[in-house]
Amino acid sequence: MATLEAIKYSRGSLLVLDQLRLPHEHHYDVVSTSEEAFDCIRSMRVRGAPAIAIVAALAHAVELRNGSCTATSPDDTLAYIDSRLDYLRESRPTAVDLFNAIALLKAAVRTAQIEGLGHPEAKDAILRAYIEAAEAILAKDLENNMAIGAYGAAWLQQQYNASADRPLSVLTHCNTGSLATSGHGTALGIIRSLYSQGLLKHAYCTETRPYNQGSRLTSFELVYEGIPSTLITDSMAGALFALRRDAMHIGAVIVGADRVVRNGDTANKIGTYTLAVLARHHGVKFVVAAPTTSIDLETETGAGIHVEERKREELTQISGAVVNADGSVDASKTARVAIADQRIGVWNPAFDVTPHALIDAIVTEKGAVVKGANGKFDFSTVMPERW
Ligand code: MRU
Repeated sequence: MATLEAIKYSRGSLLVLDQLRLPHEHHYDVVSTSEEAFDCIRSMRVRGAPAIAIVAALAHAVELRNGSCTATSPDDTLAYIDSRLDYLRESRPTAVDLFNAIALLKAAVRTAQIEGLGHPEAKDAILRAYIEAAEAILAKDLENNMAIGAYGAAWLQQQYNASADRPLSVLTHCNTGSLATSGHGTALGIIRSLYSQGLLKHAYCTETRPYNQGSRLTSFELVYEGIPSTLITDSMAGALFALRRDAMHIGAVIVGADRVVRNGDTANKIGTYTLAVLARHHGVKFVVAAPTTSIDLETETGAGIHVEERKREELTQISGAVVNADGSVDASKTARVAIADQRIGVWNPAFDVTPHALIDAIVTEKGAVVKGANGKFDFSTVMPERW
């Protein structure tokens, strides 16, 4: 079975799967410039914190490779790269992976400039350093996700003494899988790892209103991989815990993160906080799966996170493929449908912040971080250089 790929890259070429057309149509957009990447990210044809950062970094690598930088001096080359990255930074405000990637790329080209000082090919060395650093972000993300999957599955297995005879069920929210990353995924990566180890009984996924990343993308990924799974609306989570927790052995809610700040407060898709409150009430563990590229140690608490607000039409309208009278889906015909009085006032925050007190573990590619006796997360084991 072919693996799902949101991002197809080879040096000089970037293709991005249009997630707005999923699950009915698989169409890749060619993304060759920063402007195209900005538009792809802003319109959510690509979304998910790691995927946003990867597409932005690689789109600029492609344009550099294709000769977009007309500067001749090393200083002007750096100024050009900075200006393109600063522009891409404005595409979406909440996920910190993009900002971390930009800082890393700016540092990589500065190192190359210092090393190339006085050399006539200094500009080429800077461009090469950028392209290699951007490509490394893509490769590292996949490596990170595989490690998150393994650490997360091991942590949950230990918590519940899960085994093939006593597998666990989990609930996830939004889409954190191959489509939101370079592959495997973060929270969905843990679910994939549990499944491959025979430790997963069942995965529940929420619809994830208003953008339906759960019903459009996560349910598609789960079905694609043959993982036993069930879709619920966001509002059914309480009933799920109340009525099925014991029978289905529901052990954890596993979500991704757009930004984890220094005290462990976590911004993630709207509805995550509600699930964390419900999970605590029902004694279900609440696990955040996030690579260290999603951790922002500069921001002390969740109050410092800029939460994106999106357009009203995401609540008042919906689009999808047309369903024929016989129940089959015609992907060639799409329709946009009004589902509310179009004059109603709308508030549409794309994310919420889950307080660290409600989080049991934050699983990174370097291991699971849990709270100490003081009730605080300590990231020194996974990010010693920045703690
Ligand atoms: O608005 P989106 O679809 O970009 O939001 C995505 C999420 O909130 C994900 O849960 C998060 O980015 C983690 S993706 C591994």
